[in-house]
Amino acid sequence: MQSKGTLLVTGGAGYIGSHTVKHLLANHERIVVLDNLVFGHREALPLDRMTFIQGDMSDAPLIEKLFTEHQPEAVLHFAAFAFVGESVENPLKYYRNNFAAPLTVLEAMQKHGTKRFIFSSTCATYGNPVSIPMDETHPQEPVNPYGESKFMLERVLKDCDRAFGLKSVFLRYFNASGCDLEGEIGEDHAPESHLIPRILMAATGEIESLTVFGTDYPTPDGTCIRDYIHVQDLAKAHALALDYLRNGGESTAVNLGTGRGFSVKEIIATAEAVTGKTIPVSYGPRRAGDPPELVANPAKAKALLGWEAELKEPRQHIESAWKWMTGPRKGRYSC
Ligand SMILES: NC(=O)c1ccc[n+]([C@@H]2O[C@H](COP(=O)([O-])OP(=O)(O)OC[C@H]3O[C@@H](n4cnc5c(N)ncnc54)[C@H](O)[C@@H]3O)[C@@H](O)[C@H]2O)c1
Repeated sequence: MQSKGTLLVTGGAGYIGSHTVKHLLANHERIVVLDNLVFGHREALPLDRMTFIQGDMSDAPLIEKLFTEHQPEAVLHFAAFAFVGESVENPLKYYRNNFAAPLTVLEAMQKHGTKRFIFSSTCATYGNPVSIPMDETHPQEPVNPYGESKFMLERVLKDCDRAFGLKSVFLRYFNASGCDLEGEIGEDHAPESHLIPRILMAATGEIESLTVFGTDYPTPDGTCIRDYIHVQDLAKAHALALDYLRNGGESTAVNLGTGRGFSVKEIIATAEAVTGKTIPVSYGPRRAGDPPELVANPAKAKALLGWEAELKEPRQHIESAWKWMTGPRKGRYSC
């Protein structure tokens, strides 16, 4: 194993990035976060223990300066836009930020000889499931520009490996959820589109009611089934993927999920049990592009990285998110 160098974390002030930074700092890693704060939060980072650079990953002079000064050993790439519906309305915004902008970082990596890249990819690269659970060999036919933009970057990364030996791990997350178990940091998206925070916003009265999109899916209770993966488990997977590359691992794709699916109604019922509140719910039509069921086969992550989800129960996810929502910050950063 080589000695540890500096890690560049793009989008590290966001939800999953900030939880991963916390975990990496606990592992004594040296970290530089680059985030333009379009969605991220300065307060999500321990600024006294790392370097924070506010800027855009497409800013070539800034990226060149960053690579010259910090010579990162590896890049963990979280920065992206991630609203599926918006990507359908405004695809170019997504291709610009999720596909084109990272090329500036990859060019700097090529120039400066940085050979390790950990990519926040997504189960949205698979599109509609042809088999459940989905493993990494499942066909990749994205059904929206968000998934397509991530799939395109995966293909670029494969070419970079062939051309100049850039080794990447594509971590295909299923539905990220939950918050730091210590309640220090959490999920604060604006607008918030994820199910669990929206349920909890309905519980606190921050929104009038939770809209459930579709009750006529071919699932036992008619609502969509998803595989919820706790953000702390995601953070650990990044550290293990980094170890894998540091130990000479080849480029590869790895699903990050629990292997178990839960319906929207099951998640609501669990949230009612955790919060002791009745969640006001309204029912709407199906949303375009929402498959009935998305569940990972996470066997490869265990075999290759030694990773397995530890916080598998939706109750654990909701309890940690509720702790954040009802804690000192009431689920919101101030900047
Ligand atoms: N949340 C999920 O369930 C989920 C599932 C699958 C994949 N992902 C992927 O994981 C990553 C992180 O997701 P998240 O939920 O933490 O999102 P997030 O919006 O909280 O974090 C993304 C961060 O990237 C920053 N950013 C965006 N564009 C930038 C740019 N051009 N330059 C610099 N910084 C930029 C934002 O300010 C934000 O802090 C994304 O790539 C997302 O596509 C998320």
